[in-house]
Amino acid sequence: MRLILLGCPGAGKGTQAKLITAHFHIPAISTGDIFRTAIQQGSELGRQVKAIVESGHLVPDDLVIKLVAERISQADCEQGFLLDGFPRTTAQAEALQTLSPIDYVIDIDVPEDEIVKRLSGRRVHPASGRTYHLIYQPPRHPEQDDITGEALIQRPDDSEATIRKRLSVYHEQTHPLRHYYQQLQKQKDAPRYLHIDGTGSVDVITQTIMSHLHH
Ligand code: AP5
Repeated sequence: MRLILLGCPGAGKGTQAKLITAHFHIPAISTGDIFRTAIQQGSELGRQVKAIVESGHLVPDDLVIKLVAERISQADCEQGFLLDGFPRTTAQAEALQTLSPIDYVIDIDVPEDEIVKRLSGRRVHPASGRTYHLIYQPPRHPEQDDITGEALIQRPDDSEATIRKRLSVYHEQTHPLRHYYQQLQKQKDAPRYLHIDGTGSVDVITQTIMSHLHH
């Protein structure tokens, strides 16, 4: 099962990625998580992308494409993988076409006013990437990870001004991929495009997605 999760910032891609990949026993590959880990570790990659990621702009295509190409060629991706946050531009989508066949493109759709609420209330456990929401998915103890008890943080790009920037970047560069994949449907062996309403509860959205995925 080779899957892509499309959808604007805060649509619930990371939340759904964990649930879907647990079911299929495939790795969830989040380019955003890869960049945040590199930034935390202060690696060469982290230094290259820190200012870009924290201001809500996109990392250059060539760098992201190389990184994903390497990642999906690893042994744990042989039975499939889920890409969360890639592709994000037409150039990335075209490059992916040459790298691997894809079974489904899952486009999670959430209106913009709901997105701002979701992202401004989000808290994350940096070491694991586990995600919470102050109101919708609160941790058992305030500001603490349920599993380790470690402190939760707010992502630097979850300030209201940067959320707005990320949404405008999404509309300019990523939203056109909806049309790209819809058009591709006409070709034989193209990935199946699924448009999913992302406004229900987390469980209902997972069930809706799973009901469309067939081996
Ligand atoms: P990335 O990490 O991919 O961020 P994003 O696309 O902005 O997505 P988010 O992680 O913010 O949201 P999500 O959809 O995963 O939502 P979540 O499940 O957490 O990328 C970060 C940055 O890295 C980019 O800005 C860019 O700089 C760089 N980058 C990454 N990939 C790149 C690429 N391919 N090319 C170039 N640059 C790249 O949910 C959000 C909140 O809502 C949570 O609090 C959650 O608990 C809550 N929630 C989830 N589902 C529901 C629900 N159904 N009801 C109520 N609340 C919900």
